Amino acid sequence: MDSTVGAPQGVNPAHLLKGQKALVTGANSGIGKATAIGLGRAGADVVVNYVADQESAEAVVREITSFGVRAAAYEADVSQEDQVVAMVERMVREFGTIDIMVANAGLQRDAPFTEMTLAQWQKVLDVNLTGQFLCAREATKEFLRRGVVPEVSRAAGKIICMSSVHQIIPWAGHVNYASSKGGVQMMMETLAQELAPQKIRVNAVAPGAIRTPINRDAWETEQAREDLLKLIPYDRIGDPEDIANAVVALASDLLDYVVGATLYVDGGMTLFPGFATGG
Ligand code: BGC
Repeated sequence: MDSTVGAPQGVNPAHLLKGQKALVTGANSGIGKATAIGLGRAGADVVVNYVADQESAEAVVREITSFGVRAAAYEADVSQEDQVVAMVERMVREFGTIDIMVANAGLQRDAPFTEMTLAQWQKVLDVNLTGQFLCAREATKEFLRRGVVPEVSRAAGKIICMSSVHQIIPWAGHVNYASSKGGVQMMMETLAQELAPQKIRVNAVAPGAIRTPINRDAWETEQAREDLLKLIPYDRIGDPEDIANAVVALASDLLDYVVGATLYVDGGMTLFPGFATGG
């Protein structure tokens, strides 16, 4: 992909985030991995958080350092308060500060409603919603301590919540997941309102169907792909890089006036595709 396509005149995409320090949770696979790499390519130093599979996290670190920036893999379970506190403290100690928090880590535990266990409900809420709350809170403490450094960014810090089209599209068989993402939307907007006066920008990216391990069933077979494409007006399944590009843009000063927004990156999935021919 030619990453210079569409860049405003005079903006070198490799310098968009120069001198900034980013932390991406769940960055050893899928959307988090592409996002961590995208932030590194844009000039940021990156902490690659993972909860399992250290080897894959180290591979992401190697790819990022090949761009001439710093990177490190930190293990932490984002649903555990002490681990999130320790992770952000370690980043401040080792990298100096944090400018960009991408609260990305998320999972699915699908089940029909009456079969869904409390454990399945709780696990998804703990990681997808409480995890983002904890990561946003700890990053915000450091943003407030440091304040704006004009040579680095116009904002004191940026939080980007990884949401989903399912923050507004109800999803049968996934009530835990859809509820967690609905919660992410309101959490993000409330934090955006609360923290904007302190020059902290909080926004979200809401991916549609992106080809990653989380939804392998939805794109692995020909039949599944065909069914899925009926839900996507733009007629292609998304790539993790589609999301990474959106995060880089939101994190950069190019979008400095964007506060409390959800950027849907979904090929039109939220446009009620059933109505293209009906209604
Ligand atoms: C889910 C995927 C799903 C996509 C579109 C995402 O948030 O994690 O499993 O394919 O939404 O429905």
